[in-house]
Amino acid sequence: MSNRQSAVSSQQSADSRLPTADRRPLTATADRRLRTAHSALRTADNPMATFAFIVHPIDPKQDVARKFPWLARLLPVRLIHFFSTYFPPVVLSRVRGVVSEATGQEVTGWLLACPLTAHQFRHLPLKRVYAKIIQTGRLAERLGADILGLGAFTSAVGDAGVTVAQALNIPVTTGDSCTVAATVALVEDVARRFERPLHRLTVAVVGATGAIGRAVARMLAPRAARLLLLSRHRRSLAQVQQQIEKETPQATVEATVEKTRLRQAHIVVGVTSAVYAVLKPYHLHPGTVVIDTAIPRDASAGLARRPEFLVLDGGLMTVPGPVDFGFNFGLPRKMAYACMVETMILALENRLECYTLGKDIPPQKAAQMWQWAEKHGFRLAPWRSFGRPVRQAQLEQFRPYLEAHWPGPEP
Ligand SMILES: NC(=O)c1ccc[n+]([C@@H]2O[C@H](COP(=O)([O-])OP(=O)(O)OC[C@H]3O[C@@H](n4cnc5c(N)ncnc54)[C@H](OP(=O)(O)O)[C@@H]3O)[C@@H](O)[C@H]2O)c1
Repeated sequence: MSNRQSAVSSQQSADSRLPTADRRPLTATADRRLRTAHSALRTADNPMATFAFIVHPIDPKQDVARKFPWLARLLPVRLIHFFSTYFPPVVLSRVRGVVSEATGQEVTGWLLACPLTAHQFRHLPLKRVYAKIIQTGRLAERLGADILGLGAFTSAVGDAGVTVAQALNIPVTTGDSCTVAATVALVEDVARRFERPLHRLTVAVVGATGAIGRAVARMLAPRAARLLLLSRHRRSLAQVQQQIEKETPQATVEATVEKTRLRQAHIVVGVTSAVYAVLKPYHLHPGTVVIDTAIPRDASAGLARRPEFLVLDGGLMTVPGPVDFGFNFGLPRKMAYACMVETMILALENRLECYTLGKDIPPQKAAQMWQWAEKHGFRLAPWRSFGRPVRQAQLEQFRPYLEAHWPGPEP
């Protein structure tokens, strides 16, 4: 059975679980408009596969204002939450100008918005959340996209894309392989830039039982001196610890639900799905680097104001070519989330398959994705902290705290 077929094998059963509104056909005019948009993108000059990527509002006011300023001005947050469950998915923009450094080929696609906030992804019944994501996926199908990527909570929720992929006719990927690889690459970059080998450092993964956290921990186990796994549930933590100890017998791995244990770490990776900031200054030792891959952030605003901590935004990459996202999703030009990058890479590689689905991400898939990323010219983004570039002065202020907390350079 092909990957595409396997993605659709259970479509009827998944369909039957959806409210009828989500199976409603488009009006003839809307359908024609979408098809025209697609044929404009895929031409004889550019026969490449096209992609669609789903995003959703994280900060209801600010993110809704990016597309509908008047709506965000009119409605209080409470009403945005309320009405958004009734909004249909929307096409945010066309994406053009992603050009592979290896082949010179361009891929194009669409950014689509699934109109649920992070809070709603966590609190609405799963069935309604799936229905909304699938409804957005159907929009991607009508546009003619060849592959669909799931961003932020659309990939973290429920079974991480499996139900969504079963209900659609195009392959779906969560983008988590690339997010895992980019997070691990940033951990290595931090160790390299501060001239300390990773094998002398303690690295903590907060959210270590999740899809991204577990794979990050598995990849770091052979490289770090000591690994600290943290989440809220001891039993699932013990399972991850056992898995890592079996795979990497030489690794030193500890599991905890106590955030104050994070004071022992030099680098803390935040990859929880919490909708509030879980990492506060008092959880960490001065001199700690936090790599925050979570959306919304795991690092509290309090950490931004303290020179003794360095918080780096994780899962950010630069995109090769004169890329135009056609929409301001809050990142500088040419920068994208790693999960978005995975979808572009699969289109460039013409790997129209459900590459990453579910909560168990094999490290080999993340490593393969990173190889493709490097080949096509996608790179780790320059360091950013709380949405701003990290300045040399900030690093110089932080350096003495790091020197006091981290082991010295290798003799
Ligand atoms: N930057 C990017 O490109 C990118 C791409 C994709 C996803 N993401 C983000 O990455 C994060 C993780 O995604 P995922 O798919 O791995 O999620 P996931 O599979 O749901 O895992 C979430 C993890 O967080 C833990 N957790 C939840 N609430 C917590 C809390 N209050 N304190 C401590 N641990 C907590 C969970 O364990 P317990 O429930 O046992 O505590 C679990 O280990 C999300 O924020 C997502 O939006 C970023």
